[in-house]
Amino acid sequence: MTDLLDAPHRPEPTLDEFDERALLLELEPEVGRLYDRHASMAQEWFPHEFIPYRLGRDFDKEPWTPDQPRLTGVAQTSFEIGLLTEDNLPSYHRLIHGMFGRGDGAWLNWVGRWTAEEGRHAIVLRDYLTVTRNIDPVMLERGRMTQLQQGYDLDSPDTLHGLAYVTFQELATRIAHRNTGRYSDDPVADRIMVRIATDENLHMVFYRDVLTAALKLQPSAAVQAIVDEVLRFKMPGAGIPGFVRKAAQIAKAGIYDLRVHRDEVLMPVLRHWKIFELGGLDATAEDARRRLSVYLERLDEQIARFEDRLASSSIPRIAAAK
Ligand SMILES: [Fe+2]
Ligand SMILES: [Fe+2]
Repeated sequence: MTDLLDAPHRPEPTLDEFDERALLLELEPEVGRLYDRHASMAQEWFPHEFIPYRLGRDFDKEPWTPDQPRLTGVAQTSFEIGLLTEDNLPSYHRLIHGMFGRGDGAWLNWVGRWTAEEGRHAIVLRDYLTVTRNIDPVMLERGRMTQLQQGYDLDSPDTLHGLAYVTFQELATRIAHRNTGRYSDDPVADRIMVRIATDENLHMVFYRDVLTAALKLQPSAAVQAIVDEVLRFKMPGAGIPGFVRKAAQIAKAGIYDLRVHRDEVLMPVLRHWKIFELGGLDATAEDARRRLSVYLERLDEQIARFEDRLASSSIPRIAAAK
């Protein structure tokens, strides 16, 4: 979610302040229903039960050295990006509260619940990486400090843009975590990533379904917001040291590349919202929908070019899902 902060231009709100507040209030009963559904589906889990503590050794007696990790190459990089992304929760909380904290009751309940659930992700990832010595703990801590100390002085987006962004972001994070676990070839890591990915999926479903309700109330404004967020989407983590180079490696490994982004993140959600079938849109929303079509065509061309270049990559690709 750092891209809420890192994106150079925040799109113009599609509703004015009065309508914005009215939309939050109108959506609240549905947010309450979806919160209850979430609470009934989410399973309690405990990070310590996922960690192989029998492998632990004291770092003061035996400091970390580069020969200790079992994870290598892009698997290590992808875990580092995954953890540092989850570490940035204080900033995400501030943004989520800025978006949804203006609503009453159910909105605030969700902000608290979501934040508490997200907190487990960094806990379980750091404990795993530290106990198994799979990543230099000093590098991880310095990366966390660097990222969190960067400025976060932009305002939160409006409700519709925020809902669209977090829907795509939660699904993107789900897929990236899931594929990182698979790529690791470590059953312990894979089990952790399946667990986290399950959380991210429930978060995505919540946001997606709130926006489904918003599409009924404000169809044109919601379509514009969705298109804005598709066109400006970037994976979280832009504040992480070396992020561009590391994200390129993760793409070459097939953990998260443009094809994954289109086929497993953008298209399932756009289809769910029936973006290309909605009727009765105003001229601005129709124009946004045309821009979305052009964007998706260009994405196809980019995917083809990327996959052509893969032939010269030395990075092992992820195995096909079973
Ligand atoms: Fe998370
Ligand atoms: Fe999440």
